[in-house]
Amino acid sequence: MARLTWHGHSCFTLVTDEGSEIMFDPFLTDNPVADIGPEQVRHLDYILCSHGHFDHFGDAIALAKRTDATIVGVYELVSFAQAQGVTKGHGMNVGGASAFPFGRVKLTPALHSGTVHGDEQGRYTAVATGFWLELKPKEGESRTRLYHAGDTALLMEMQLLRGQVDIALLPIGDTFTMGPEDAARAIEFIQPAIVVPMHYNTWPPIAQDAQAFARRVGARAQVSVLEPGGSLEF
Ligand code: NI
Ligand code: MN
Repeated sequence: MARLTWHGHSCFTLVTDEGSEIMFDPFLTDNPVADIGPEQVRHLDYILCSHGHFDHFGDAIALAKRTDATIVGVYELVSFAQAQGVTKGHGMNVGGASAFPFGRVKLTPALHSGTVHGDEQGRYTAVATGFWLELKPKEGESRTRLYHAGDTALLMEMQLLRGQVDIALLPIGDTFTMGPEDAARAIEFIQPAIVVPMHYNTWPPIAQDAQAFARRVGARAQVSVLEPGGSLEF
């Protein structure tokens, strides 16, 4: 049984069947809705960062240094982390996949801006991405494909994910990413079984009613609304 825990915003911890502990978009320091602080993260194997904005990358370097986790993301972002003293990095680029002990990770397109938090000289401007994961199944079970969209607008490219995603983590906050209407259209494009809304209710500009979003989606997917600290097992 794999377990996906939401920490508010776009930050999740995924514990895979294979035993890897993965954090997506670490944002615990100064995250007003996070259920834990960074000091409560004891162990991580991988940190997947969708882009360099502080609300996705803010805790990545400190956590990677303390846990010796590998930072995975677009090449420039990983290079910046390594220039800051992170020892393990796995740089990739959009459309490319890599194999890891827990399965495969592909960087997906995202339409969003891409400065890197902490890069005072502006040398590491990077594109924003999402992640598609194909998790290794336990023997006799079926694989799970998980899509963390990162920060993005609705994209025609999401249609390419149709039939390839079991669980989709989609931003619904509006203002900085897709809002509920476009996220519902993304679900039509992708046709995932389960959707977990993210990147909302962190601050007033991205306040949303997740239950209203679930009603809007209706029968198109099962919307799993988590509270910070809440988990989904699959
Ligand atoms: Ni962003
Ligand atoms: Mn963001």
